[in-house]
Order: sequence, then structure tokens, then C-alpha cells
Amino acid sequence: MNTFTYRYPVTVYFGGKAAEKNLPAELARVGQNVMLAYGGGAIKRNGVFDELMGLLTAAGKTVTEFSGIMSNPTYAKVQEGARLARENNIDFILAVGGGSVIDCCKVVSAQAKTDEDLWELETVLRGSPTGFIPMGAVVTAFGTGAEMNNGAVITNEEKKVKGPLWGAFYDFAILDPAYTMTMPMGQVISGSFDALSHCMETYMGSPREANLSDEINEACQRNIIRNLRATLKDPRDIKARSELLWAAAMGENGMLKIGKVTDFQAHMLEHQLGAYTDCNHGQGLAVIHPVLYRHMLPEAAPQFARLAVNVWGVDPAGKTEMELANAFIDALADFIREAGLPTTFTEMGIPADTDYKAIADTTVFTGGCCKKFTREELLAVLLECR
Ligand code: NZQ
Ligand code: ZN
Repeated sequence: MNTFTYRYPVTVYFGGKAAEKNLPAELARVGQNVMLAYGGGAIKRNGVFDELMGLLTAAGKTVTEFSGIMSNPTYAKVQEGARLARENNIDFILAVGGGSVIDCCKVVSAQAKTDEDLWELETVLRGSPTGFIPMGAVVTAFGTGAEMNNGAVITNEEKKVKGPLWGAFYDFAILDPAYTMTMPMGQVISGSFDALSHCMETYMGSPREANLSDEINEACQRNIIRNLRATLKDPRDIKARSELLWAAAMGENGMLKIGKVTDFQAHMLEHQLGAYTDCNHGQGLAVIHPVLYRHMLPEAAPQFARLAVNVWGVDPAGKTEMELANAFIDALADFIREAGLPTTFTEMGIPADTDYKAIADTTVFTGGCCKKFTREELLAVLLECR
């Protein structure tokens, strides 16, 4: 175990009617002017908007809507939100949606408080924002676990970079499984795979020998696999969705990362793929993972072998470590197909003339990965994914 400090600032209200039960008390603690932020309008079609607007009105708040936050939110959209927040003297932001809305608002909350260009401040000057508008999140799509961390993945279209900006933690997050029932099935699947990926990428970091964080992590992975299967069988199974909603939050609430330096090389590749193609995050990860993992052999064999046995139920009898490691990658690839996720970039609709060299050349290398990749090898991985 590495040295660690554990403290978590986000209050989670989980379960049926979590907004009705908890939002009034939270709203009583915040200022008059509330920004209600959301995406392309799913919340208007499924009743969530009306319910939250009713609670905001009952609390006597003046509401400013910030709508149209797109999947893979852009830095330009962040600036639009920050302008709106300043113009309306926003005291509190209620972000309602999946990872995209939740991430966008983390940076809006910081950008509204400063005239500095946050991209420049954080990525060039290596500074951090210091002032934030307080925020609450209402999760309508599980997967990213974005409600539980202060990292926001933002696409800078001008610079062709999709990368992290650091904002504030949410003061609270409302996780009501009922709100996720209208998620499109494709999003249920890609979100679940994203959550599984967060667990795997954390697991693949260091230290690499067995440790408590990884043993909890294995349980999360088994849970996601089992409950995605249950949801595929019965999309109305709210118990399975409840599990997926919390398992996804567990992936990003710091618990699995205690004492670990994480890997996240698959994520870094996918994010740059996203900068160039605006693709779906979970689908990109599904294509990249098995290919990248084959390139992580033999270095990753001990961890892969443990995953084969402890997560995928492979019988270790008579098998070498390398056989078990390969069995893990095969089981993962089979699951990706079983879930109906794409297995190539072409299947995802990514154009053949995509500049994979530029993607490989701009991908961030991560510290926790057991293998030190070269740019040439990242390019080879991307080309194999086509
Ligand atoms: O835009 P609306 O109309 O709201 O529709 C959304 C969107 O089209 C829809 N949706 C969400 N809840 C729904 C619903 N439709 C019907 N019923 C509901 N209840 O789902 C679509 C996808 O939403 P989005 O928020 O884009 O998806 P996701 O949650 O997968 O977030 C993806 C973004 O999060 C970043 C990704 O890179 C990507 O930009 N990530 C953030 C992370 C973090 N901050 O910790 C970690 C992740 O690794 C990830 O990188
Ligand atoms: Zn992710």
C-alpha cells in the first residue's frame, strides 16, 4: 500500500425519491439565483425537469436555464455557461444529466469566478482555480462516476485536445435509479462499460500485488458484469440499474484508488480519439481495451491472471500465468461482443481517414501503467482497432 489520506467531500443521496426527500433542505442552504444545467432535453421528455423545477419553485428560487450541453462538452460551451452564470449572478448550479453535463458545470463553476483563461491556467501555467460557485448534481445516466470527483473531461476544439480540467467537487449528488430508466439502451451499455473500464484501469495501476483496494475493485467489476447482463435481459430491472448506478460511482469516488497510482492508459487514448472524432466514450473504450491489453503482455500478466480467476471465474487448474492472462483478455472481448458493443472503430462509424498518427502523438502517457508505451506502439494499437 502507498501512503494515503482519505477524505471525501461529496454527500450522496441515493435511492427512490432522493430529490424530493433531500433537495429542499439542500436548496435552503444556497443563495437565491440557481442555474439549472442540462443536456439536449432528455430530462424534459422523462419528467425529471418538471419535478426539479417544481422543487426549485417551491424553494422560491430564481432559475436560469443553461441547456444544450452536448456529449463530450466543449470548452466553448463552458465559456457560454460561465457568461450566463456571471450575467445572472448565479449563487448555485444544479447540474442534471450524465457525465457531460456534470463535467461541464464543474468548470463553469470555476470559470464564472475568474477572468483568467482556465485552459491556459491549468494546462500551461499549471495553476489551479481557487473560486467556485457551489454545485449539486442530479445523475440521470450512470457510467462516468463524474458526480464523485472534481475532474472534468473537456474538449478544446481549437487545440484538438480532450483532457482534464480540475474544478470543484459537488456539494451533493442525487442518485435516484428511477431517473436512469429512460436512458437509451446503447448508453446503458456504454456507460456500464465505462464504469468497468474505470475499475480495470485503477486495478492495473500500482502497487500490483494483491491489496484491499483491488479486492474491493474485483467485487465492483463482478457486480457491473452481472448487473449489465441482468439489464440486457430485462431493461426494466430497477434493482440491476441501482447496482450499476452505485458501482459506477464507486469507480470514481476514490475508494478503489486508495493507496494506488492508477493506470488509465486506455482512457488517455480514447480521450484523444474523442478529440478527433467526437465518439461515444464507452464505445471507444470497448474497442481499445482488448487490443491495448494484448500489447500490455507480458508485463501485465500477473494482474490479468488474477482478474481471470477472481472476476471472470476462469478455473486456474493446470494453467500457466500467461494462459490465465490471455483467458482474461478473451473473456473481456467475449463480454464486449455479448453486450453488443462495437469491436472496431469502423463499427463505431469513425471515418477511415482519421489521423491516427496525430492521435497517438498527442496522447498522454500515464504513470501507473505497468508497461511504458512508445508513440509507435500507441499508433499500432490504434491501427489494430480500425
Ligand atoms: O443530452 P441529453 O438529452 O440529456 O441526453 C443524454 C445524452 O444524449 C442521454 N441521457 C442521459 N440521461 C438520460 C439520457 N437519455 C434519456 N434518459 C436519461 N435519463 O445520454 C446521452 C449521453 O450522455 P453523456 O452525459 O454524454 O454520457 P456519459 O455519462 O457517458 O458522459 C460522457 C462524458 O463524460 C466524460 C467522457 O469523456 C464524456 O465527455 N468522462 C468523465 C469522467 C469524469 N469526470 O470522471 C470520467 C470518464 O472516464 C469520462 O471521460
Ligand atoms: Zn471513462
